[in-house]
Amino acid sequence: MITEQPEGMQALLECYSGLLHVCDQLEAIADGLPDSFGIERSTWVADQLLPLLARAHEEEERVLLPLIGLSGHPQVRNLVNRLRHEHQVDEAAALDITETLLALGAGRPLLPPEATGYQLRSFFESVRRHVQAEQDMLFLLDNFTIDAKAKT
Ligand SMILES: [Fe+2]
Repeated sequence: MITEQPEGMQALLECYSGLLHVCDQLEAIADGLPDSFGIERSTWVADQLLPLLARAHEEEERVLLPLIGLSGHPQVRNLVNRLRHEHQVDEAAALDITETLLALGAGRPLLPPEATGYQLRSFFESVRRHVQAEQDMLFLLDNFTIDAKAKT
């Protein structure tokens, strides 16, 4: 049985775990609006979000996207461009989310509570779907690698 992971895989899995934790914190903030969102939680997520997202995207460029790019199927290789586009969209949205969280933490919300909740939910639900899809891809690609090694 092959148990070793490609180099960098563990770092990527840790990034996914961190992002999902941040999504849980964003959900708690959205649920707690307008008064019980937690100033410390809001400030913590504002500090973590952009660096964590950047690290996840770097690890994906090193580990996940090259694996997908090796596929013999053009439709699968096209996923690389789609994922990169989603990363750009998420990074732009994360800038706005960070600004929103810092303002909440400072007691000067930029938007009404309903609009803030909608903004946060749109972001963390999208990131959760994105991470889930990439984890599924890693599972499929890892199985493919193991199958290919087993045949040699
Ligand atoms: Fe990604």
